[in-house]
Amino acid sequence: MRQAEMLAEAAAQPQAGLAAMTAADLDAVLEIEQRSYGQPWSRRSFLDSLHAGYHAQCLWLADTLLGYFVALRGLEEVHLLNLAVAPDWRRQGWARVLLEALVLRAQRTDARWLWLEVRAGNRPARTLYRRFGFAEVGLRKGYYPVGRGRHEDAVLMTLALPREPS
Ligand SMILES: CC(C)(COP(=O)(O)OP(=O)(O)OC[C@H]1O[C@@H](n2cnc3c(N)ncnc32)[C@H](O)[C@@H]1OP(=O)(O)O)[C@@H](O)C(=O)NCCC(=O)NCCS
Repeated sequence: MRQAEMLAEAAAQPQAGLAAMTAADLDAVLEIEQRSYGQPWSRRSFLDSLHAGYHAQCLWLADTLLGYFVALRGLEEVHLLNLAVAPDWRRQGWARVLLEALVLRAQRTDARWLWLEVRAGNRPARTLYRRFGFAEVGLRKGYYPVGRGRHEDAVLMTLALPREPS
């Protein structure tokens, strides 16, 4: 293929982009949420997070929602509350893209740490976070209800955020 044709083809490809989550996104968000978790967040939980001003971003490829995250700013830390990628789009690096966006935003607000809890049995997520640089620093016994009165432990993970060069 000639270079001009290759450039034209590349320019015609839709680019993935991040945008603040809004109530209008919630049908698409809930579709992923319900396919991602045994105990998914409800529409009400997302709406409450948006109304409370939590940091929530959606990652889009044209009209397709690839994934999203919701995070809460604390004193010196940002707490990642939810992160999911659409099942058909996994293992393509999109969760890393979402985490990088979260890190950048957290650094801009002078946060020192990212924190999260993850189900002890959630191997994909624990591997993702470890590979990204998070350390496993604690265990919350029986933190997640998993139905029929049973509970699963949460692993507490943290990532120190280097200061952005000024
Ligand atoms: C966990 C999750 C967000 C990962 O999304 P993803 O877009 O597939 O992740 P990435 O493609 O960015 O993967 C980055 C790295 O994480 C690790 N990883 C991701 N999924 C993995 C899996 N199923 N098994 C093992 N390692 C995995 C790998 O090291 C991967 O790098 P590699 O593909 O080069 O080996 C996704 O599986 C998901 O939405 N799960 C359901 C919701 C959930 O559990 N969220 C986390 C709650 S704390």
